[in-house]
Amino acid sequence: MNALITSHFTAAPTALRHHRLQQWVSGIAALTTPERVLWCDGSATEYQRLCEEMVDSGTLIRLNPALRPNSFLARSDPADVARVEERTFICSRLEEDAGPTNHWRDPAAMRTTLNDLFKGAMRGRTMYVIAFSMGPIGSPLARIGIEVTDSPYVVANMHIMTRMGAAVYEVLGEDGDFVPCVHSVGVPLAPGEPDRRWPCNPADLHIAHFPETREIWSFGSGYGGNALLGKKCLALRIASAMARDEGWLAEHMLILGAESPTGEKTYVAAAFPSACGKTNFAMLIPPPAFKEWKITTVGDDIAWIRPGADGRLYAINPEAGFFGVAPGTSPTTNPNAIATLAENVLFTNVALTDDGDVWWEGLTPTPPAHLIDWQGQDWTPACGRKAAHPNSRFTAPARQCPVIDPAWEAVQGVPVSAFIFGGRRATTVPLAVQAFNWDYGVYHAATLGSETTAAAGGVQGQVRRDPFAMRPFCGYHIGDYFRHWLETGHALAEPPQIFCVNWFRTDDAGAYLWPGFGENMRVLKWIIERCHGRANAAETALGWIPRSADLDWSDAQTEAQAYAALSRIDPAAWGAELARRGEWLTRIGAKNPRQLALVHELTARALGEKP
Ligand code: GTP
Ligand code: SPV
Ligand code: MN
Repeated sequence: MNALITSHFTAAPTALRHHRLQQWVSGIAALTTPERVLWCDGSATEYQRLCEEMVDSGTLIRLNPALRPNSFLARSDPADVARVEERTFICSRLEEDAGPTNHWRDPAAMRTTLNDLFKGAMRGRTMYVIAFSMGPIGSPLARIGIEVTDSPYVVANMHIMTRMGAAVYEVLGEDGDFVPCVHSVGVPLAPGEPDRRWPCNPADLHIAHFPETREIWSFGSGYGGNALLGKKCLALRIASAMARDEGWLAEHMLILGAESPTGEKTYVAAAFPSACGKTNFAMLIPPPAFKEWKITTVGDDIAWIRPGADGRLYAINPEAGFFGVAPGTSPTTNPNAIATLAENVLFTNVALTDDGDVWWEGLTPTPPAHLIDWQGQDWTPACGRKAAHPNSRFTAPARQCPVIDPAWEAVQGVPVSAFIFGGRRATTVPLAVQAFNWDYGVYHAATLGSETTAAAGGVQGQVRRDPFAMRPFCGYHIGDYFRHWLETGHALAEPPQIFCVNWFRTDDAGAYLWPGFGENMRVLKWIIERCHGRANAAETALGWIPRSADLDWSDAQTEAQAYAALSRIDPAAWGAELARRGEWLTRIGAKNPRQLALVHELTARALGEKP
């Protein structure tokens, strides 16, 4: 096996001296029997070569270089378009440690299943070895993973989404720790058998995590969070377990910086469930009346946060790129994202224009007269189908974002003044609330509800509890996670303030009451001013809510009348909401911290309900 591996070795020579790594890679190669093993060096040349090979094999389409330089389109198999929560497993020794939000499997039984699935799974393919850092190299918060994969599409995405290659091997040295991540699309090739454009094996899909031994095994999908194992699998599910043990937080949060007209810089982190507005909020462009405010992006999806010596929390973005939702992204909704996508982008499942560029629903007010849709079919506006898949995405380097924060790669992270939690709720939940204190904030986050979206397979548009926007991503018992949050906050001299927002409230006809996007600046300004003790609010049963006069409405299109509907706490709706929350807390069982039951009771009484 060793001869096979080293003959294609192109990475930093230190990897040759890391015997554990060498042995582990040899073992996976012996199990999966690839045709060859290629150690990736993370270089631009390697990226170009991979993309060219994928253009030749039909996996990628090169976009018109005059319109979208160095960019490509991939079309997935229609059966492989999003994360699949039903097939995502937490394999802790005890079922109790996975908790009610995860699908548990016995680790020994899962190992047997995986051994069978991976046996010979890479036959006829190249096995790529990717050494990657989640977090800026050299950051005390950064962690290293090694992903072996038989998908060149995954390698190209990892080039953008992580820091890869020689520098990672330097940090790893001869004995450094890494999280082993094994990935196969699960389609071995017989000699001479032609490959498919997007090989995948949905029937045998398994996304398995071993939180105790800190390993990831993913079989059958090539898409997004199922396959780019540094992202949801490592940076959230495995990292959340590490964070619990080591006293930090791994969260599904964007991080943004806001500089006020006086030059005061405030960082906030916000958790919204999948496809609920993190990328947009992270890159927000304030309305003209706020032009002296500068919003900058640190991250759009994941935050790793740890207490600093000064009693504050500090956050890093473990990723190096954005894997963002395409539909709805436009020069009016998110001009910074559009600018980020100017070049060097991998698009997946968007539509192709006749001049070799991309299009998706919402990009332009009027669709082009003709497109090739995400499945490669002719498309016209009258055909009745969506041109882009609702979970179509772009993979783009974070450094291309015109408002990337100067400290986005700071190894110590940025100080967090506020946490914001938001769901997609057509009714009930007001535009903005500040929690009375840390425990109230944890209660609101723990009972967060949101309508399901296309980011995961399954039914869309149903309200489900998505605690901390982490329901699909917490690698251990969610009750223990709530306790970890409570304890982390109690140990801080200066805990961040906690806020809840809802951009998605609608009128009876289903139209959004709030314009959203850049207009969210009005709420963000209030949040920042509250952190600094400068803005007013009214006390309600849920927390402090801004009155219309407490928000800056300069040049607003929204009427004060609309704000009344946006901020209304409807007693009947809240009766039902509290019942839902109560059921949810009961489902968590004995591990649910007592403080949360108490805050629930206090909230119910304040609303005039029986808890
Ligand atoms: P993941 O990458 O899946 O974790 O999602 P995300 O939270 O980063 O989602 P993103 O920001 O990409 O938003 C998803 C969808 O929500 C897009 O179609 C956006 O256009 C839409 N959206 C974002 N912000 C707002 C808003 O303020 N109001 C409304 N109505 N829609 C929004
Ligand atoms: C999400 O679903 O929250 C995402 C996309 O950010 S994926 O990486 O595919 O999970
Ligand atoms: Mn996400």
